[in-house]
Amino acid sequence: MPSAAPSLSIAVLGCGTVGTQVVRLLLEQGEELSARAGTRLELAGIAVRSLETERDPVVPRDLLTTDAESLVERADVVVELMGGTERARDLILRGIEAGASVVTANKALLASQYGELFSRADAAGVDLLFEAAVAGAVPVVRGVRESLAGDRIERVIGIMNGTTNYVLDAMTTAGWDVDAAVTRAQELGYAEADPTADVDGHDAAAKAAILAALAFHTRVDLRDVTREGIRGVTPEDIEAAREAGGVIKLLGIAERVATPQGERVAVQVHPAVLPLEHPLASVRGAFNAVVLEAQAAGRLMFYGAGAGGPETASAVLGDVVAAARHRVTGGRAPAESTHATLAPARPADLGARMQIRLRVADRPGVLAHVSTALAQHGVSIESVRQRPGDDGSATLTVVTHEARLDALLRTTAALQATTGVEELLSAYRVEQA
Ligand code: NDP
Ligand code: HSE
Repeated sequence: MPSAAPSLSIAVLGCGTVGTQVVRLLLEQGEELSARAGTRLELAGIAVRSLETERDPVVPRDLLTTDAESLVERADVVVELMGGTERARDLILRGIEAGASVVTANKALLASQYGELFSRADAAGVDLLFEAAVAGAVPVVRGVRESLAGDRIERVIGIMNGTTNYVLDAMTTAGWDVDAAVTRAQELGYAEADPTADVDGHDAAAKAAILAALAFHTRVDLRDVTREGIRGVTPEDIEAAREAGGVIKLLGIAERVATPQGERVAVQVHPAVLPLEHPLASVRGAFNAVVLEAQAAGRLMFYGAGAGGPETASAVLGDVVAAARHRVTGGRAPAESTHATLAPARPADLGARMQIRLRVADRPGVLAHVSTALAQHGVSIESVRQRPGDDGSATLTVVTHEARLDALLRTTAALQATTGVEELLSAYRVEQA
């Protein structure tokens, strides 16, 4: 056991899926973690909402408290695992003001209050660490923030939400419906307290914004992240993707975009058709994967468990050890880096290919109307497949060549009013392998 250094008190806020596992590992592996940190790590207390809730027997009842305020004020490291934004923010700031380093897994809070949290941590000279906030156990935050600090990252593309990947995978391979798969993801501890954060893409948007800020040295406003969730994905969409040799995944994509007005940054979350050869196409279940495209390093893929108690606790404890080491040696984690200040990109700055599915009247001339509508917006067709229906209609699946995103969005709107088109069934971006 080290050392002459005084022990550090660790305050854990929240004792749910992740907090319970952090507490367990801190207690079971305390000696080993303390040896790595260079000082004894002492669990000072665990803040919860209710003392009446039944808990895993591993959690010492005498450490539970509902008085989170006084707990953070006597902590050296505050580990925030409560979720939510307002109370979590207040407690984190209270800890920072009292001189504590902060470890959090809370992507919703970070993405919405990134600037303020960093400024306050920097001013107080304490660490703000959040490896678990993006892709659970996968060390992609440290990869972007530290390992690639000497390179220029051009693009980040990833499966950043375990729940929706689990749902889409279950729909693709087992024919489950969305509701059944979400319920199972909740039981497994993957889903957010309110799973609409997963299903509607808010969680992935927060993670994509955090990675974009780190990768492009720019503050990213969550309101500039375009977001579409998986609520509208149907078994027929999945089947159409399969027929085209692909699979549907919810992607977070952050990229630098060259425009006549200078470089901008685009951050988007949407379901997309991935060809089976794409490295992200084989990511199954609740796993996450993030591909970084860097100027010198080329393509790097980070893959692993994106959610779950023990998996996320691994990333949290890595940060706890790092924060403790800094307090022992006097070093600091990297401060916020915002020197690039890139403006957000607009749809006119972006290009995309799209798979558009339409229900049309099965009669002569309809295909001509559809191709005219695309041509009027400067969108060229790469392929068309037609499948007959049994009620005088047919399903057309059109894949476009790359076109400007604003033109594609106008095209899909125009197609809904095109003669012979009965319904726009879906429109998804198509990624290249
Ligand atoms: P849970 O809902 O399982 O647990 C939340 C815990 O926080 C509970 O113990 C709850 O207390 C406590 N809590 C909530 N509000 C308050 C409050 N106002 N005051 C005191 N305690 C409070 O959440 P998770 O463990 O799943 O997630 C925690 C954080 O980690 C979230 O930010 C989430 O986004 C993030 N995260 C989660 C992952 C996962 O796989 N679950 C993965 C990566 C990040 P009580 O028990 O009394 O109700
Ligand atoms: N709800 C999140 C997910 C937890 O499903 O990915 C991990 O951040």
